[in-house]
Amino acid sequence: MHLDRAWQKDLAAAALRARERAYAPYSGFWVGAALLTINGAVYTGCNIENAAYSVCNCAERTALFSAVAAGERRFRAIAVAGGRQEEKEPLSAFCPPCGVCRQALSEFCKGRAFQVILVRSREDLRVFTLEELLPLPFGD
Ligand code: THU
Repeated sequence: MHLDRAWQKDLAAAALRARERAYAPYSGFWVGAALLTINGAVYTGCNIENAAYSVCNCAERTALFSAVAAGERRFRAIAVAGGRQEEKEPLSAFCPPCGVCRQALSEFCKGRAFQVILVRSREDLRVFTLEELLPLPFGD
């Protein structure tokens, strides 16, 4: 299913807004994500850190888990924006999802069409398929 540029930009804007809610006092690295369902709903997430570092949760999985907990199972795209706390749009670099988040997404976002949209600003996006980022997921 085609996701046009206007949708990509809206999703990018939602990821940048979600980034403002990051709780990242340990790394100082703020990440936001916005996940689009096949019905056009958007679920957002931010990274949430913990004094016990291994408990930290990435923005992508926050968005994915809140969507699944709300009853969603089918998704079209996720936008991700990350950078140091003090950075504003445009961010200095793209923030590709970590390997754990790629695997978590692969559970629900099967098929070639799912897009991973990396965001520096609403105007500066890089679009990949999940298959490009995780060519051989563990799965059924
Ligand atoms: N982080 C994310 O939220 N998403 C990513 O794709 C990469 C890393 C978070 C985890 C941690 O809170 C901080 O960024 C530094 O690694």
